[in-house]
Amino acid sequence: MDALSTITQRAPHIQPRIAVVLGSGWGGLTNLITDAVQIPYTDLPGFPQPTVAGHSATLWLGKIGLQPVAVMSGRAHCYETGAVDGMAEPLRVLKSLGCHTLVQTNAAGSLRLDMPPQSLMLISDHLNMPQRSPLVGTAGNERFVNMVNAYDSELKSLAALIAKAQGTILFEGVYAWFLGPQFETPAEIRMARLLGADAVGMSTVPETILARHLGLRVLALSFITNFGAGMSLEELSHAHTLQQAQAGSAKASRLLADIISVLPFPEETAG
Ligand code: HPA
Repeated sequence: MDALSTITQRAPHIQPRIAVVLGSGWGGLTNLITDAVQIPYTDLPGFPQPTVAGHSATLWLGKIGLQPVAVMSGRAHCYETGAVDGMAEPLRVLKSLGCHTLVQTNAAGSLRLDMPPQSLMLISDHLNMPQRSPLVGTAGNERFVNMVNAYDSELKSLAALIAKAQGTILFEGVYAWFLGPQFETPAEIRMARLLGADAVGMSTVPETILARHLGLRVLALSFITNFGAGMSLEELSHAHTLQQAQAGSAKASRLLADIISVLPFPEETAG
């Protein structure tokens, strides 16, 4: 059975409107989903089978507040196989289910001394450093996607407002995608800073491109787990990323849940 039929059969009571992708540090969100149905990616053809320890591989259908959601706990990273379109099929399926907005989360390294580990950052824009696109090979003029306002300005303002109301500090900045899986060199970190980046990470950008191609609005948040290579004496490792992410998970999840629960339907917004 295809993924769309499996989902509608197992979670007939949920018509998700918001698709969420959980990166490292954001897994606590699943504790805040009510009426939850879990489907392992192994039951969903076309969904990624992550290979990274500490990343899970489950689709959750349920509600956050009153908002019906489809939450992907686990994503495909380009560094796993070299394929940059590993999230194309899941996002297509979530759009077919009725999702109009994609909320992305990730763990990232900070390039700013005033944005230390444990900070949260709203992604205002991105730098596609590898210059890879998941749209290569697709046909039609829609592939020439406009990337101005890729991270929706109305949703960004809403997220900033919720953070303020909660008393949570939410930085805003440019996310530079590096392919990985190796961490950056200190010279690469200096380059990214010169180019105007505020954070670096190994995900998110391909999904944003895919989502814009599908006409989904995008909101994205980074959990800062470390300073970029060469900026501090801290040793970078995947274990360190996960340990930092775990430590801040509750705060990040609370903010994320509050933001998701107030995201508008497109028809509710002007323009
Ligand atoms: N670089 C790339 N990806 C990351 C980092 C980093 O410093 N921290 C968490 N994900």
